[in-house]
Amino acid sequence: MIETERLILRNWRSSDLEPWVAMNADPEVMRFFPAVQTREESEGMMARNRDHIEREGFGLWAVERKGVGDFLGFTGLMALKDPNPLAPGVEAGWRLARHAWGQGYASEAASAALKDGFERIGLKSIVAFTATTNLPSQAVMTRIGMLRREDLDFDHPVLPKGHPLERHVVWEATA
Ligand SMILES: CC(C)(COP(=O)(O)OP(=O)(O)OC[C@H]1O[C@@H](n2cnc3c(N)ncnc32)[C@H](O)[C@@H]1OP(=O)(O)O)[C@@H](O)C(=O)NCCC(=O)NCCS
Repeated sequence: MIETERLILRNWRSSDLEPWVAMNADPEVMRFFPAVQTREESEGMMARNRDHIEREGFGLWAVERKGVGDFLGFTGLMALKDPNPLAPGVEAGWRLARHAWGQGYASEAASAALKDGFERIGLKSIVAFTATTNLPSQAVMTRIGMLRREDLDFDHPVLPKGHPLERHVVWEATA
């Protein structure tokens, strides 16, 4: 668990499922992904996030507002796996429901997750990447002090050649 001024980053609870399914079915939230997520896909991702946190001691945490307790989405760190060209390594990621945008929550949560990654987990490097057109996510990377790494940019191996979201741009923070 990680606490910030306004937020709590914690492991997932079954009460997160409905708002999680709803945000992943929102085309605006998913506009930089190939498709919205079905209920089954969201259930699968929630289970994997939980397992990752239990196994590694860190992961994509569920984010709630302190004192309010409502589920906003996720922010955190995740181990990169093949076929991602940056694997092995650890990436930072964030996805919030639309009602939580524009209030600095993603940057606040992501800064705390990076600090936790360097100070508690002992990581040396954390990367973040997104589609070239995902400027809101790139703004989070810059706001939390990550540095652009053009030399690491890549075509996402899971997307078909020529897909509009294929090219990914990379940022990095180091300990
Ligand atoms: C990526 C995403 C989390 C960014 O959300 P965001 O609201 O733009 O980012 P933050 O939470 O850091 O908020 C920053 C904004 O809040 C504003 N803000 C308001 N109050 C603030 C405060 N107290 N502190 C800091 N910023 C504040 C900032 O000025 C900034 O506004 P701007 O975008 O007009 O410049 C969001 O767009 C999202 O969930 N997208 C869909 C999923 C996705 O694409 N994820 C990334 C995949 S790689």
